[in-house]
Amino acid sequence: MSIPVILDVDTGIDDALAILFAVRHPAIDVLGVSCVAGNAPLAQVVDNTLRILDAAGAPEIPVAAGAARPLLENPRASSHVHGADGLGGISLPPTRRRAESVGAVELLRRLILDHDAPVTLVALAPQTNLALLLRTYPEVAGRIERIVVMGGSASVGNATAVAEFNVWHDPEAAAIVLDSDVRTYMYGLDVFNRVAIDHDVAVSLERGDDALGRVVGTLLGHRIQLSADESAEYTGLIGDAGAVCSLVDPLALRTEVRPVRVELAGYGRGQTLVDLRRFPGEEMLHGGADEWANVEIALDVDAPRIARLFLDTLGLG
Ligand code: RIB
Ligand code: CA
Repeated sequence: MSIPVILDVDTGIDDALAILFAVRHPAIDVLGVSCVAGNAPLAQVVDNTLRILDAAGAPEIPVAAGAARPLLENPRASSHVHGADGLGGISLPPTRRRAESVGAVELLRRLILDHDAPVTLVALAPQTNLALLLRTYPEVAGRIERIVVMGGSASVGNATAVAEFNVWHDPEAAAIVLDSDVRTYMYGLDVFNRVAIDHDVAVSLERGDDALGRVVGTLLGHRIQLSADESAEYTGLIGDAGAVCSLVDPLALRTEVRPVRVELAGYGRGQTLVDLRRFPGEEMLHGGADEWANVEIALDVDAPRIARLFLDTLGLG
């Protein structure tokens, strides 16, 4: 029985890896893909998404453009992380695919309400589209199985010392999604930063005979540009793809259901506050506990197991 899934992406290097995995895994049925500005401007995200679907040999999957900027913030694309084109300059062939004429919120609504079973939303980007969907069509919440969010962190940040990029880019949207009462699974930096492909494997793929392997190896080999003439060390992180892997191998991760809220003010704006206490504190006696949502958060991962699942699913193991 396959899992009906809609991906919300800001394709980006690791969104691309996630799309490749999702369309290739037999237990995942990708109903559609919604695009949002994040790693790159919206138009670039849409083009990257269409081209990576070609690279995956995917069937005709509806793709729609969503929000061009966050609810309140200006766009803050991280070109130093994913490159000016959002895909590390890989220059995939032009595509004949076209995005839907309707916007992402309308496509999400139609796919969710028309499907004969509850749908899993996989949020791999700033959650602007999902917030707009839940505010515009609250009736869809009852037809969403759960929202798997690549976002947030119970520990270190990346966009800031304490905030993860997807939540930081649109904190209000992340807060609205948490507030929706839809069952939420958080695949945050605590596990995101641990699942990687060895450098020698990436090099071998990039130089190999397999066309998909060359795409994957090239994407894995992209490095963050620290300055005009210095790039970061190789990381090999599969990033967003790990969140999709968690759908088909949940036992490879250790999770806990914990109270979570999004900080919206001060230096910590965009931070996901995760309450890991074993016992409630004095605040319980004095109110304030109601702004938190109970979220299943991934706190540990068998990283080699997920990395192997990723490569095996793409036929690159
Ligand atoms: O913080 C990592 C997340 O931000 C990933 O989804 C990456 O693609 C960027 O969107
Ligand atoms: Ca992403």
